[in-house]
Amino acid sequence: MTIKIAGTGSALPNKIMTNKDLEQLVETSDEWIRERTGICERRIAQGDTVASLAATACERALANAGKKAEDVDLILVATCSPEQLLPCAACQVQSIIGAQKAVAFDLNAACSGFLFGLATAYSYITAGLYKNALVVGSEVLSKIVDWTDRGTCILFGDGAGAVYVEATEGPEGFIGFAQGSDGSKGSVLSCNERTDNPEEDIYVHMDGREVYKFATRQVPKCIVEAVDRSQLSLEDIDLFVLHQANTRIIESIAKQLKQDISKFPVNLPRVGNMSSATIPVLLDELNRDGKLQKGQKIVLSGFGAGLTYGACVLTWQ
Ligand code: UT7
Repeated sequence: MTIKIAGTGSALPNKIMTNKDLEQLVETSDEWIRERTGICERRIAQGDTVASLAATACERALANAGKKAEDVDLILVATCSPEQLLPCAACQVQSIIGAQKAVAFDLNAACSGFLFGLATAYSYITAGLYKNALVVGSEVLSKIVDWTDRGTCILFGDGAGAVYVEATEGPEGFIGFAQGSDGSKGSVLSCNERTDNPEEDIYVHMDGREVYKFATRQVPKCIVEAVDRSQLSLEDIDLFVLHQANTRIIESIAKQLKQDISKFPVNLPRVGNMSSATIPVLLDELNRDGKLQKGQKIVLSGFGAGLTYGACVLTWQ
């Protein structure tokens, strides 16, 4: 038994912030941001929350799968930017969409969170505890970004993506997973919790070069491990849907894997880095644009704060 993605959905805030807009905030240029990151614009929440964006993405994933909220068994929201510690965003989503019988909880593995959520849903469902799940990545990073730090504020955006997964006997669905964490390097990408102390630094801090090195070294190895575990070769893979952090990172990974860059779709120029939401949003766009074909072998892979990283392989239905 395995699980398959039976529906996808996403939700982006309406407000667009361009690189030109950022030129008004920090000493940067549209040219620098495009060349070093590939990003042209990103979405910024205005009133939307992690829970409201996640709920909209879930409703769209359910509609895409032809399923009802009241039949959902499990809701997993991966997020590192919830508005509230309690209740968790997943329980708020449960209430908004009316998924009365679902078990709901959040998990935080930063940009790898959606992948870790998929592996968690896979484990629950193949163990026989549940039959289906909504797995969501949702972020409102704009509220934890320091808008005076040009090293980070140019990168991030807000949004949510969701998939509805269910048990299947195959041949479609998930084949292999690989995951890892390296807590000893946690300080290269960090953010403190909000407190009552106005002096407290509550914004994202990043050593960009260290994260870049980590991603370009670790992600190719992790993808190879997941592909090996699936008893496939890299040549069998039709699409690599990677965490959208930087087009240079994606190009480096494609080169190291000796795979044509056309196998690596991107939406980063339009939406920036939305942490846990990047992979499910891109997957939903590909699905709705008719770019996913039955039988295609797809790799999903992400990396981020923790440090954490993960990859999985699936056959599209
Ligand atoms: O989901 C995971 C999240 N994190 C990431 O994916 C981050 C991975 N890292 C990166 O994407 C890149 O390291 C960055 C895009 C963040 C930075 O690019 P870089 O090529 O590593 O630049 P750098 O930090 O080495 O900085 C080069 C120069 C510096 O100036 P000096 O010291 O050479 O005079 C920076 O001060 O560029 C300067 N700089 C900027 N200039 C204009 C840094 N940020 C900016 C900026 N605009 N926004």
